[in-house]
Amino acid sequence: MIVTSKLLKEKSVFEVSKDLSKNIPIYVIKNFIKKDICKKLVKLCSNKNLHKYNRLKVGKKFDFFSIDVLPSNVETNRIYRRFQINKKTINKYTDVKKLFFWQNKIAKKNSKTSIKMDIVHYPKGGGFFDWHIHDRYPTNYGMIVNLSAKGKDYKKGSNHFKIENKEINLKKYKIGIGDLILFRYDINHSISEIDPEKNLTFDSGGRWTLITYATNRVLKKQKDNTVKWVKS
Ligand SMILES: [Fe+2]
Repeated sequence: MIVTSKLLKEKSVFEVSKDLSKNIPIYVIKNFIKKDICKKLVKLCSNKNLHKYNRLKVGKKFDFFSIDVLPSNVETNRIYRRFQINKKTINKYTDVKKLFFWQNKIAKKNSKTSIKMDIVHYPKGGGFFDWHIHDRYPTNYGMIVNLSAKGKDYKKGSNHFKIENKEINLKKYKIGIGDLILFRYDINHSISEIDPEKNLTFDSGGRWTLITYATNRVLKKQKDNTVKWVKS
């Protein structure tokens, strides 16, 4: 039988890297980030109305913020909010710093590579991300930590992974707050709709995740020469 997922104990990233060389599509590590930190991260993003900063540099805590409701200029269908947290925020929380360090070690980097860390909110009322894949490198294994609780913060929807068109069932791991999923970055994955029967609401409810990845692309501030943003 082909092994498609494996539970790992939290040990040094160097030992985990040895495990990853077995190339199993998914690894799970329970309780990687403490629950209270997960809650603080959700609060950090849901506390204030950041909408006016959409796709612009936010400053003190975030490098970037976007809200996507079925955008027309991208290849994948999605409804989510994305908060790219900056170095200052990453360094504030030991567990978050550890996650960043792990992604840094696990990625296959070149001189242009940078490690990014985003908090992604899939709101109640149909937050989702359609099936997609990424290039395996430079990320190698992407990381997802659950920041909210299914059954409490939302009822329906979760991460899905497919290999050779067969879904990898992760139910046995009972993935909850603070649990880490490491997934080979080139496998097909999606987030199914979060509580689709409700009205779409961007509040502190729904599903929140902390994700990390590596990129060789430099994300530039959007330029629109016809409309100028005036800082108040
Ligand atoms: Fe993805």
